[in-house]
Amino acid sequence: MTDTAQLRRQLANGITDQGLTEPAWRKAVEDVPREVFLSEAVFRQGRDPQGLTVYEPLRRHQVPEEEWLVMAYRNETWVTQVGGVDAADATGPVHGLPTSSSTLPSLVVRMLEAAGIADGDRVREIGTGTGYSTAVLCHRLGDDLVTSVEIDRAAGARARKALHGLGYTPTLIVGDGLDERQPGTDFDRIVATCSVRSIPYPWLWQLRPGGTITTCLSGWMQASGLVHLTLQDDGTASGRFTGEQTAFMLARPHQPPPRPTFTMHAGVARQTGLDPSRLWSWTGRFLAQLAAPSAELLGAGAQAILLDTATGSQAWTEPARAGWTVHQRGPLPLWDAVERTFERWEKAGAPEQDQFGLTVNGDEQRVWIGAPGGPSWLLPV
Ligand SMILES: C[S@@+](CC[C@H](N)C(=O)[O-])C[C@H]1O[C@@H](n2cnc3c(N)ncnc32)[C@H](O)[C@@H]1O
Repeated sequence: MTDTAQLRRQLANGITDQGLTEPAWRKAVEDVPREVFLSEAVFRQGRDPQGLTVYEPLRRHQVPEEEWLVMAYRNETWVTQVGGVDAADATGPVHGLPTSSSTLPSLVVRMLEAAGIADGDRVREIGTGTGYSTAVLCHRLGDDLVTSVEIDRAAGARARKALHGLGYTPTLIVGDGLDERQPGTDFDRIVATCSVRSIPYPWLWQLRPGGTITTCLSGWMQASGLVHLTLQDDGTASGRFTGEQTAFMLARPHQPPPRPTFTMHAGVARQTGLDPSRLWSWTGRFLAQLAAPSAELLGAGAQAILLDTATGSQAWTEPARAGWTVHQRGPLPLWDAVERTFERWEKAGAPEQDQFGLTVNGDEQRVWIGAPGGPSWLLPV
């Protein structure tokens, strides 16, 4: 029989090697049986004959029990739902984007560590998913201090079953965790395991003064940054990006509208000195997203394609004899905005993401470099 305690210890050792310091989180990884949260099936990512990404369901009974358990304790994200279809219900390969998963355990506990959670803290988690991270929270804090919100009814029901089966009884809410109508106030910590384009204002109202929000700030270019904000007495929340290269799926209400088929138009062409391949780095993509938050980013290498669904604006680049040519079309000059942002960033010393911060007040949300008052960009709210 497979020694799952041994597998959990190995997982905890691996995460400790990656920099986890708090013994309480390590102990939770050692004790919480992750296989219970994967339930009966997961998706494996592959390619269809056309080369498109596809998700193949893998059922527990299809593999030897030992293999399934080893899989469960790999430090990997296991996708459990794609385009709203649960792995357990899928009758064949599914195309679409993952809509629920069991996040890789190292990311779960590093995020909880980044949130600065201490014994006695009341925590609201947004994105119950499979319930694994919720169980880790309950293990550390006790059920009474943990509330978790999941927007997907089926995922919420499965998580409840898994948690209750193990004797964990936190407050579980099925609903939109970005919405103000979810019950509960005076939380010490809000931690989101889905990402957001801007901070939902209800999170500020649900915290006690001095409470914190830990979330990935992401967007339609799929750039991401883990940020940790503290709520001040004046109702402002402010804090810094940790610089960790972590990403979660976007919260459902923040996802982009369906993208129309892209047709390249010649548009207005000019030379650009900004190497498009710089947009593919972690900070470069983040800068581009700050510059053009309603655009998506496609392409690769020297070809960057910016596409704004709302206005139909587009910009695309191609290599030229010397440098690159950019073609822009539509009311939003997307590349001009990206170029200006890179110029301001370089003037500020070209810092990496850990030198950025975010301030949220009643009027606006601003990402800044260095300190509030430094070069800054508004988020879409
Ligand atoms: C990456 S998964 C969460 C992983 C989970 N913490 C775990 O350990 O299994 C993200 C989850 O957030 C949920 N979600 C997306 N938007 C949401 C929203 N507005 N409110 C609550 N949950 C949301 C998704 O349905 C998905 O289950």
